[in-house]
Amino acid sequence: MSLTGKIALVTGGAQGIGREIALGLAEDGADVAICDVNLEAAQKTASDMAAKGRKTHALKANVAASAEVTAMIDQVVEKLGRIDILVNNAGITRDGLILRMKEEDWDLVLDINLKGSFNCAKAALKYMSKQRGGAIINIASIVGAMGNAGQANYVASKAGLIGLTKTIAREYANRGVTSNAVAPGFIDTAMTQALSETVRAELSKQIPLGRLGSPGDVASAVRFLASPSATYITGQVIHVNGGMYM
Ligand code: NAI
Repeated sequence: MSLTGKIALVTGGAQGIGREIALGLAEDGADVAICDVNLEAAQKTASDMAAKGRKTHALKANVAASAEVTAMIDQVVEKLGRIDILVNNAGITRDGLILRMKEEDWDLVLDINLKGSFNCAKAALKYMSKQRGGAIINIASIVGAMGNAGQANYVASKAGLIGLTKTIAREYANRGVTSNAVAPGFIDTAMTQALSETVRAELSKQIPLGRLGSPGDVASAVRFLASPSATYITGQVIHVNGGMYM
């Protein structure tokens, strides 16, 4: 229970990787707030964490809306007392080849994946820098390092998020705040279940460990980065991809 007494916020914690991260941090002893656009599913995750004996709070917020984010983080602090760990996990895809990509799909993906993470980090850093401690963990992606045909908007958002991660690390190190990214490969969630069986089988062949990852594989890396074992690690990207990118 290395996170006893710590307060965490996981964005997009209603389902998939975010839900698994929230449950994992609760398992490690943290009280965990989650925000999502899907409040009903977020409340389900929160009640599953409460069953582990943790204090929890589920909030509805769109991370792309800065005023909503500021109010949401103020509410987390009001309800749970402080904020020690922020996991920027909320993210979406709107895939298409560049010549066919609509401007609104570019904007929406950048707004949620990149600006959303900036909004949450900015609002949380206000408290973390006063507390002189905190851990920010951004969920990037393997494609942010490799590029991927058909995902210009998503790749740009995740590569941008890696740059943001390193900048937060440099700006807030003297306040005791660490900032790292976890870059998952292809993980078995709703996002990849949208791909055809043929594409999923083809992807598995490109993964040395021979399978898509599970949300738990990603959550393990986040739990480590949030733990006291990782206080000398900042500005790094941990790849969790079965060896697909090395
Ligand atoms: P998912 O689609 O299963 O879950 C995403 C969650 O974020 C949902 O609960 C959704 O309601 C929430 N969300 C979406 N837009 C939001 C917004 N504007 N504000 C607040 N919440 C919002 O996705 P999954 O697969 O769990 O992905 C989680 C993160 O991991 C994303 O950032 C994704 O880009 C990243 N990732 C996923 C990979 C995969 O293979 N599944 C691979 C690499 C990265």
